[in-house]
Amino acid sequence: MYNSKIIGLGYYVPENVVTNNDLKEFMDTSDEWIQERTGIKERRWIDTSTEDTTAVMGAKAARIAIDRAGISKDDIDFIVFATLSPDMYFPGGGVQVQDILEMPTIGALDVRNQCSGFIYAMSVADQFIKTGMYKNILVIGSENHSGGLEKSTRGRNVSVIFGDGAGAAVLSRCSDEEKAAGKGILSSHLHSEGKHAKELALEGPSTKRWVPEIIAANNPDDVSYYPYMNGQFVFKHAVGRFSEAIIEGLQANNLKKEAIDMLIPHQANLRIAQFIQKKFQLSDDKVHNNIHKYGNTTAASVIIALTEAWELGKIKDNDLVVLAAFGSGFTWGSVIIRW
Ligand code: UT7
Repeated sequence: MYNSKIIGLGYYVPENVVTNNDLKEFMDTSDEWIQERTGIKERRWIDTSTEDTTAVMGAKAARIAIDRAGISKDDIDFIVFATLSPDMYFPGGGVQVQDILEMPTIGALDVRNQCSGFIYAMSVADQFIKTGMYKNILVIGSENHSGGLEKSTRGRNVSVIFGDGAGAAVLSRCSDEEKAAGKGILSSHLHSEGKHAKELALEGPSTKRWVPEIIAANNPDDVSYYPYMNGQFVFKHAVGRFSEAIIEGLQANNLKKEAIDMLIPHQANLRIAQFIQKKFQLSDDKVHNNIHKYGNTTAASVIIALTEAWELGKIKDNDLVVLAAFGSGFTWGSVIIRW
């Protein structure tokens, strides 16, 4: 068995900054409410006059990650693409990135695990590298939320939270020396609880509710094609599941919470991240948050935050890095990395 490691990181966010005050144009909200409840000050929303889409942003992040990995796009053996907001109903974003980057006919797989999408995607890539099936895997998380949000007072509890953006990592095989030194991805832990699927969901359009049916009904009260979130219910589950996933990861590696050098929590809500930070008694320099700038970018959130922390020099050789996420499904999980 091989160990996998991250050899390249990149992220891309659209230029268009939307502040909390900008949102007041569409809905009854306030900067105070949003900051107090979520920690968000602004987010990026795609300007529709630009070329950016979920796949295009993913490709932009991927180019940076591949470049930093010091390899060529032709050295990539497989693509794993995580999103809940693909450009097309089908096919998925993986093949679109493959096309944009003019990559050879390697396999491309899409992962649909919402906020824990990147954790799931990394775990999938890790398994392929461990077995020796592939050497270099491009893992992408990208979301275009802005086009599908209900930007009105009715949808405000959801629409103020979400932002657009993408991140990418190139996973590769550790050398024998690195493996002997205990480096690379140590473990990943994945969970889900489908009985709560409807608590954070977008039900239509879907095969249960096709577009023609929605159009024919012409019902202005129909909100099935906007994301729905039972906020407080999700919040309660998030704090518990985040903790469980981190504890599970530490225990699997015989590590204590004091061993954590950097925690990258999915950027769902600053209050959730602060709760986790307190619970694990981590100092501010051991947790990286950027929700104030980008909001919740779902499958892109963990990888954007990881890349940013790395760019800021917050992650050093041999650090224990913990990634954790929770979201729609419900799905949750963690990845433990010795950098
Ligand atoms: O990434 C996936 C995982 N997602 C999460 O983990 C998110 C978890 N949930 C949350 O972060 C929080 O539940 C929210 C930030 C979404 C909402 O905060 P909350 O404290 O749960 O607010 P609420 O939905 O219970 O609403 C409280 C009040 C309501 O008014 P009334 O009924 O008390 O008069 C809402 O109508 O705040 C009102 N409200 C708003 N007011 C101004 C809801 N959204 C807004 C808004 N601006 N954007």
